[in-house]
Amino acid sequence: MSIQQLIRRELRGMQPYSAAEQVTNTIRLNANESSWKSDADQFRRPLNRYPEIRPAGLRRLLAERFGCDERELLVTRGSSEAIDLLIRVFCNGGIDNIVTTSPTFSMYEHYAAIQNAAVREVALDSDNDWALDTDALLSACDEHTKLVFLCSPNNPTGTSIASEQLNDILERVDGRYAVVVDEAYIEFSSESSSTTIRSGKDNLVVLRTLSKALAYAGARCGCVIATNEVITILDAVQAPYALATPVVEAVENALRGDLASRAADEVAETIEERNRVAETLEQLGLVDKVFPSDANFLLVRFEDASAVLERTRDAGILVRAYGGGLESCIRISIGSHEENDALLSVLTSMETEE
Ligand SMILES: Cc1ncc(COP(=O)(O)O)c(C=O)c1O
Repeated sequence: MSIQQLIRRELRGMQPYSAAEQVTNTIRLNANESSWKSDADQFRRPLNRYPEIRPAGLRRLLAERFGCDERELLVTRGSSEAIDLLIRVFCNGGIDNIVTTSPTFSMYEHYAAIQNAAVREVALDSDNDWALDTDALLSACDEHTKLVFLCSPNNPTGTSIASEQLNDILERVDGRYAVVVDEAYIEFSSESSSTTIRSGKDNLVVLRTLSKALAYAGARCGCVIATNEVITILDAVQAPYALATPVVEAVENALRGDLASRAADEVAETIEERNRVAETLEQLGLVDKVFPSDANFLLVRFEDASAVLERTRDAGILVRAYGGGLESCIRISIGSHEENDALLSVLTSMETEE
């Protein structure tokens, strides 16, 4: 089956919103903008003018960075927006479903609920470092499945799907569903990006973000990488002028500058810190298990997670608690050396009091 056939019928062939034409060196009397510019406006493209309908230069830079053709990439407001767009474009409310793992990033479920798409969950094996059973994944899919979300490395478990398993899944799915690989944390992983195996796999969709390893969460910038046919429909559904001028300029400046090399150094340091924090936590009696992680966080099972939450909060340190069967686990983001030390010192002092 071609991936276009998975797209909601009424959206196939949809045309983008027809926005006011933008041509350089012309007098713009076609968009009801103001003709004056604020004194506080320091941007290359003045803020009295609408941004580009789609940021072409930024798209080129991101395509270069993520190794794909620019026609196969849509710039989105964080990868969150890409998740929303995909579910809206592929799922008929009240009929279709998405398949995810459990646990995983809760935004898939959130946007599915908004679209009234059902969510079918496949439990990861907590006794086996959160391994994904491919047979169980495939049996969770049915004729109404449109999207299979695989988060790799997975939030909150920190585990990656090995490229051999992903290849096997794609082969066995055989184009019946779109397989979305959310690579928000891929830079921290020992696995390489699945963008490298896209060739010939039209139903593979990859999500990337600048919010994690690239340290631009505040800019709200990410992207979806898929066939040009899918990108064309997502583009038609995305709000016109989605990316604001200050965001486009800030991210372009960063990508043209030394962001990539700085990020590579910082990722290496984060991985070192992750290993140090994991080793220290493993020595503590109040820690039941530190799960292996391929991301910039650790999932830790504690003897008494609520006591840990209370003490860290009292010390002014926020960590992430979970429900839904993960009540004894806490997700700890890896911070700076000093921040990590502050956390370790709170936990060590709890230990000595016991
Ligand atoms: C797995 C995963 N995907 C996507 C996102 C969304 O990131 P953003 O919208 O900032 O790109 C997050 C954020 O935490 C995440 O953990």
